[in-house]
Amino acid sequence: MPLTFLGLESSCDETAAAVVRRHDDGRGEVLSNTVFGQEDLHAGFGGVVPEIAARAHAERSDYAVEQGMAAAGLGFSDLDGIAVTAGPGLIGGVMAGVMTAKGLAAGTGLPLWGVNHLEGHALTPRLTDAVEWPFLLLLVSGGHCQFLSIEGLGAYKRLGGTIDDAPGEAFDKTARLLGLGFPGGPAVEKEAAAGDPRRFKFPRPLLDRPGCDLSFSGLKTAVARACDDLTEAQGGLHSQDRADLCAGFQTAVSDVLSAKAARAMAAFRADHPQAAVLAVAGGVAANQHLRAGLDAEAAMQGFRLIAPPLKLCTDNGAMIAWAGLERAAAGLETGPVSPRPRWPLDQSASPILGSGKKGAKA
Ligand code: KG4
Ligand code: ZN
Repeated sequence: MPLTFLGLESSCDETAAAVVRRHDDGRGEVLSNTVFGQEDLHAGFGGVVPEIAARAHAERSDYAVEQGMAAAGLGFSDLDGIAVTAGPGLIGGVMAGVMTAKGLAAGTGLPLWGVNHLEGHALTPRLTDAVEWPFLLLLVSGGHCQFLSIEGLGAYKRLGGTIDDAPGEAFDKTARLLGLGFPGGPAVEKEAAAGDPRRFKFPRPLLDRPGCDLSFSGLKTAVARACDDLTEAQGGLHSQDRADLCAGFQTAVSDVLSAKAARAMAAFRADHPQAAVLAVAGGVAANQHLRAGLDAEAAMQGFRLIAPPLKLCTDNGAMIAWAGLERAAAGLETGPVSPRPRWPLDQSASPILGSGKKGAKA
């Protein structure tokens, strides 16, 4: 029997509700995918303000559910379950989503699954492309950056990650520095299209060190320094300067991620000789330059790059519904659903210094 779930997401600045069906052959089908962004509410601050985000989620999550259900053309009696992000993320938003989902579950009698937001991102390639286990995942978002060996449902091994900022955070900070608005990723990418990536010599952090760990805070500082130098020399930035800074920054991020992805693929293949899929997920995976870089690197290593459609890269309810569906289909029980601000995917990995401790996003 196919299973149909409603998924709710509210861990950062998207209030989202989606309906997803899992067919008997394991194929996923997105029946609706409603996302209410909050860019307008946070734009003036250059980043997500947790208190404002929480209030907006509390205000809109029931409305997002109404829209998601209507767009799918289904009633609650057509559903088999509800899944909600229970963490990690901004706790006020997570609580708003969890309370909405608990109310819905109580009112409808449907079972409720508390889902790890990162698992939602991690399993998206199975929803969109029915990817088989195991596969290698690069998760790149506003709050996270890690290479994960996805070995099976609930079996995730971290191969490396950022020791400081996440790339999305670096994109957002670079955009703020250059007055490009929020969220920074799409703005920087747009600006970079007209820029010369070779004009500024930005560092490629940690490439001189073995392993798959990454660092982005030095890069952000290098952009700030280049910006200061230009301002001192010419009194401000011309539009070409801005484009060149964005292009240089974006290329540095992409180069580092591609080079580390090559190492991660080698490490992953040593454990899984038959495996040949590199998937990318999280908001930064929307970046076309990065996708092209990873695609080329994957091809060189004999891997196939799987990148979900843009709407399923950034935060959404469909990935949460899917993670719940995978758990239900595997016969796992629902447990108590409690909001968790921190919730690493690889519980056995020791924390990387600083990682996961910064950034509003998860
Ligand atoms: O996964 P996501 O929606 O939220 C979480 O962090 O969980 O990712 C949002 C992040 C933001 O930092 C945003 O600037 C970045 O993804 N982003 C991008 C692009 N689109 C979104 N970064 C680079 N290029 C893009 N096109
Ligand atoms: Zn996310």
